[in-house]
Amino acid sequence: VSPGTPSKYYLTTPIYYVNDRPHIGHYYTTVAADVLARYHRLRGDDTFFLTGTDEHSLNVDRKAREEGVTTREFVDKMAPQWQETWAKLDISNDDFIRTTEERHKAGVLELVRRVRDAGDIFEGTYEGPYCVSCERFYLEKDLVDGRCPLHPSREIERVEERNFFFRLSAFGPRLREHIKAHPEFVQPEERRNEVLATIESGLEDFSISRESVKWGIPFPDDPTQVIYVWFDALTNYLTAVGYGTDEERFRHYWPANVHLIGKDILRFHAIYWPAMLLSAGLPLPKTVFAHGFLYFKGRKLSKSEGVMLSPFDLAAQLTPGSDEPSASGRDAARYLLLRHVPFGRDGDITYEALVDRYNADLANDFGNLASRTLKILKQYTDGVVPQPPAEVEARTEALHALVAEATTAFHAAMDDLDFSGALEQVWRLVGRANGYIEESRPWDLRKDPSREIALNLVLYNAAEMLRILTYLVSPFLPGAADELAKQLRVPRPMSVHKDGYTLDDVLSWGGLAAGHMTEVGPVLFPRLDKPVLTA
Ligand code: MSP
Repeated sequence: VSPGTPSKYYLTTPIYYVNDRPHIGHYYTTVAADVLARYHRLRGDDTFFLTGTDEHSLNVDRKAREEGVTTREFVDKMAPQWQETWAKLDISNDDFIRTTEERHKAGVLELVRRVRDAGDIFEGTYEGPYCVSCERFYLEKDLVDGRCPLHPSREIERVEERNFFFRLSAFGPRLREHIKAHPEFVQPEERRNEVLATIESGLEDFSISRESVKWGIPFPDDPTQVIYVWFDALTNYLTAVGYGTDEERFRHYWPANVHLIGKDILRFHAIYWPAMLLSAGLPLPKTVFAHGFLYFKGRKLSKSEGVMLSPFDLAAQLTPGSDEPSASGRDAARYLLLRHVPFGRDGDITYEALVDRYNADLANDFGNLASRTLKILKQYTDGVVPQPPAEVEARTEALHALVAEATTAFHAAMDDLDFSGALEQVWRLVGRANGYIEESRPWDLRKDPSREIALNLVLYNAAEMLRILTYLVSPFLPGAADELAKQLRVPRPMSVHKDGYTLDDVLSWGGLAAGHMTEVGPVLFPRLDKPVLTA
């Protein structure tokens, strides 16, 4: 990359089935992707963040029938609900792909043709169990008591039909080589080992068309078949950036830097998908990162398992005194999910734990730092940032060093998608800034006119810490960062506004000029009194 050329960063979420409504599980992946996208924008990268909806599933078709509408009508009603949900929850996706769009269909047909030309598609008959929730064929030996291991409450269906198959069995050695040569390809490590073990146990060819299903993209040159929903869905990662419709754009963005997924769909993304790409002669994504599952008091979040928590409800519960999620409630929902559960592991949520952490980290530590700093400035110097003394003493030097150290560790954690680790680094700075103010006792310095220089230094350093924190928290807390930028009267970060500033522009110490005006504004994170929801 030549200096001045922003690096490209293309990231995706799974595309969600439209028969469901967004719940906290979907929100979790989407929020992680949003934080990552905002972080890369803040770094000045040419970022492209994709999400969308998976509309050709059998579940969708059946759901439409239940509701007595055509499948088309049904998906056209449901897809906008997903779009609106993300828009209302500050999700900053650059595109939203629907698998029923023409641009998608064109690319899927192109990919099938390429794979067929490579000789990796053949005709056969399939007979065996199928789980409609997974949209996947199982081997008898993988069923548990004759049921799907992931959806034991759903009946398994028996399928016998003529299909087109993809020669997955031919790709085991190449996949294994790729994964071994590129440890970053499947993350975290536990998931990489799982994928390697699956490959070792032998890969079976899989059917990529369905005969009995009518809702889907017709198979090229055989209208009696539709393309299997996973083959269709995975291809969204290509079609959204122009595969089959805009070659130049495609070459600019592909391969993706990261596909964020839940661990439930690992095999599709780390085995099927790279094999399809290898067959078509296309580059592989750099990383497939599978995060863990969220549970609510030990119960799985999904409609079929009986727990369906809407992300709106979560944000609203974190908004004191209102049923509508405020900017602080939405920020808090993002922060708490990513801070509470190390990314990659499973985690259990309780409202009590979230509320405790909200009050400790957001209302007390961060919110308090912001309001006390701006209030002291207002009270002591009418909001004006004072001139710090020219010579740098040891305690100021220690602040500089800590900022440098924590920022480096923050970037390293973000590069590893270790969101909770990145937040720990930011909160080290929050803690130190609060500690610095308390030790320095500006309220005492102020009483003694001979200590004016010392007071100016403390005020300057506190304001400067808050300014730097505004940018560092911004991918996680875009609402608070926007508000703080206003109160500090500094440029908005690129993570919250496309005309904003990147980290390089703002991160070095001393960004605030003496004489700069600040203002006091609304409290960022009002305290929450009680755990409100029980479910
Ligand atoms: N349509 C497929 C994906 C196709 S991608 C080419 C699909 N859709 S889904 O609507 O079922 O969404 C699944 C994804 O939602 C999971 O991979 C995960 O990212 C997220 N989650 C759903 N429930 C979850 C939890 N309880 N916890 C965390 N994430 C979960 O599969």
